[in-house]
Amino acid sequence: MRSICGDLLLQRLGPSGPAALGKPLNRGIYECIRGAIQDGSLAPTTRLPPSRDLAAELGLSRNTVMFAYEQLLAEGYVHARTGSGTFVAATAPETYLNATATATAAAAEVRPSAMSGLSPRGQLLLANASASPTQWGAFMPGVPDVTRFPHRRYAQIAARLWRRPPPEWLSYGHGGGLPALREAVATHLRVARSVRCDADQVLITEGIHQAIDLVVKLLGSSGEQAWVEEPSYWGIRGILQVSDIRMVPMPVDEEGLTLPDGEAGRDTPAPRFIFVTPSHQYPLGAVMSLKRRRALLEFAHRRGSWIVEDDYDSEFRFSGQPIPSLQGLEPDAPVIYVGTFSKTLYPGLRMGYLVLPRALAGAFQTAHSELYRAGHLMTQATVAEFMQAGDYAAHIRRMRLLYAKRRAILAGLVERYLGPAALHEHGSNAGLHLVLRLPDDADDVAIAEAASQRGIIVRPLSRYFIGSTVQRGLLLGYACVPEEAIAPAFELLLGCLDQGKRR
Ligand SMILES: Cc1ncc(COP(=O)(O)O)c(C=O)c1O
Repeated sequence: MRSICGDLLLQRLGPSGPAALGKPLNRGIYECIRGAIQDGSLAPTTRLPPSRDLAAELGLSRNTVMFAYEQLLAEGYVHARTGSGTFVAATAPETYLNATATATAAAAEVRPSAMSGLSPRGQLLLANASASPTQWGAFMPGVPDVTRFPHRRYAQIAARLWRRPPPEWLSYGHGGGLPALREAVATHLRVARSVRCDADQVLITEGIHQAIDLVVKLLGSSGEQAWVEEPSYWGIRGILQVSDIRMVPMPVDEEGLTLPDGEAGRDTPAPRFIFVTPSHQYPLGAVMSLKRRRALLEFAHRRGSWIVEDDYDSEFRFSGQPIPSLQGLEPDAPVIYVGTFSKTLYPGLRMGYLVLPRALAGAFQTAHSELYRAGHLMTQATVAEFMQAGDYAAHIRRMRLLYAKRRAILAGLVERYLGPAALHEHGSNAGLHLVLRLPDDADDVAIAEAASQRGIIVRPLSRYFIGSTVQRGLLLGYACVPEEAIAPAFELLLGCLDQGKRR
């Protein structure tokens, strides 16, 4: 007997059947099922037939169908329940992180008519779009308090430079950024982050997103694997997907990313990339232990993988010693280090940096100019002077104190109203957000939606997971919320928690 799913796929393939899929077949069948989920033909919670049965119905090998199921699982379109089968996810990944009504409306605007003219790559990117239209207010995670940016001091420097701008600073950039800024960044990273680098290894980018795009384009090939933390930062998923890099989620524990152990690890295909946030795991907050760091470096050396260290907010650690970078742990580590000014200055600046192994630096500089046509040299000169004059370090010191105070207020409220266990156990006293843990059967997406109706932005923790086993909770950013606004906003949020009770 044929299944509904089998019938549907045969209808879509038309008279030539699976031959219409083109090569490779496994990719074709995956795209076909994904399309049916995206347009609602396969409704949420529908059970997919066992891979063996679907393979028989379509006249394909079981491996072909299994590949498709695994890829759909990794991207969150389906989930597997042990013993009972594979089901279409209740919430498709395209609604990931778009928990607010406005975000959902914005996503709806790009479907389905605008999708039809797009390439498969473009469709994949838009189908998984996650950036929120709201970027400011309680409790927006990851956004610093931009109202405290010392704009007068910055404007003074900028105004002086603009009085007599050297013509070459108004032209295209080349060679990885303004030498003065690369020097200032290298000095900061050596001192504050124990990164082993000289200015010629530093490349200025338009933020971590662009840095990762460049890394993946220059070092990755279609079909290769990237290990990503589970849960992880959603922002890099689109970059990996459009480059056809397969994401493999690796669980994190209180010591950071876990590696497959012993013999099991030897059979695992070597990933081309391992993306980690060792100083402050995003989003849960663990610090990678020294033992795990050494094991990760050893693994990457042995298997020829590149570790990409995303050091997005490590300047903000409120107690204990700063956590040194993974890159600096040994000379010539197989690590590409990426950092950003988004948290320390302001996100709209769109400025970040890569620290490359010396042998790759020249190639990356040339490729950067070829792909993105570098520029913003006046801005780079301003930031360089801001750093050299000590204003950058002073601003970080001030903001560290402020964020520590705001974190303490919010953590105190969580503990008072929901108990200490409601603060995620991996969380450390650092960063710009904390994670409020919810019971496993709570609907964190529904809570985020209810909160957004009351003007409170929170992000559901479950949406940061790629696989089918998720934790429930909420990311609450405190950095951009004035102290006196934290308690009233938290009270509004408390009133929404009931919305997450499953009936
Ligand atoms: C873990 C992580 N990496 C990277 C970024 C983005 O950095 P950028 O603004 O430099 O692209 C963020 C932003 O929230 C982040 O949380």
